[in-house]
Amino acid sequence: EPSKEFVFKYKGFYFGVNTSVEHVASLENFEIKDSDIFIATYPKSGTVWTQNILSLILHEGHRNGTEDMELMDRIPWLEYNIKNIDFTSLPVPRAFATHLPYYLLPRDLRNKKGRIIYVTRNPKDVLVSYYHFSKFIITLEEVPDFNIFMERFLAGKVLASSWFDHVAGWYGHVEDFNILFLTYEDMKKDLRSAVLKICNFLGKKLSEEEIESVVRQATFENMKKDPRANYENLPDDIADKNKGRFLRKGTVGDWKNMMTVAQSERFDEVLNEKIKTLPIKITWDM
Ligand code: PPS
Repeated sequence: EPSKEFVFKYKGFYFGVNTSVEHVASLENFEIKDSDIFIATYPKSGTVWTQNILSLILHEGHRNGTEDMELMDRIPWLEYNIKNIDFTSLPVPRAFATHLPYYLLPRDLRNKKGRIIYVTRNPKDVLVSYYHFSKFIITLEEVPDFNIFMERFLAGKVLASSWFDHVAGWYGHVEDFNILFLTYEDMKKDLRSAVLKICNFLGKKLSEEEIESVVRQATFENMKKDPRANYENLPDDIADKNKGRFLRKGTVGDWKNMMTVAQSERFDEVLNEKIKTLPIKITWDM
């Protein structure tokens, strides 16, 4: 079981302790504007990447007026509002990032109010990224033994609960939302196409140069160099910078460097049968 020091459960879903039951419960009635945009993900699936892309698209590739702003302030976390931002005072269009399961999102988002971009990633890469992340983030429980961490992940006993339930839940409710599905692997393979898909979805027309600029600034290498795009300035009581970075490797198939054949088989045994029922193709390596 995950330690209560690090997570709490609300309506069957594990939240980290950087939020409260009151805040999470209040979100169901949070008023949505038609122009609102949400990035929804299971952790470690490309959230920060998509946050940066979206922010650049909204500001036409040059972050007009947001040059000095942290990504977290440009696109705040909905359920982890650690800076106590007044969401109602944000400039329009507002954009948020969230790990919420579909059933805990603000009710207004149903009936196609607002827009949602949902990003998935190969769950073995998610697992490995999550494992490293748990060492680096102080408010996450560190589980040094990878095997034990994997068992918790497979059992959904980690912050954000089960990867499979999250993805299956969102894909199973396509009809309820105005939603665009992206995958980390497709973004990696062809970032420009992903940028164009998002522009299309938002009805945002960018010039060729602006698109080039978004793509250039959203590469792993360039984000890594930009402290305001890579979460470098997280408070010391949240991240231990001696132990890692938000932008770690940014590759597809890194699970092969971490998981043994036996672990991979165990993973397949638990998740693969379930994954076959998902309407998406999982890219295991590239
Ligand atoms: S979180 O904590 O849930 O918000 O994490 P999240 O941002 O979803 O996932 C972090 C992983 O995304 C990788 N990342 C990128 N990959 C490729 N290109 C770009 N630009 C990029 N930005 C972030 C990041 O490195 C994490 O993956 P790993 O495998 O750990 O490197």
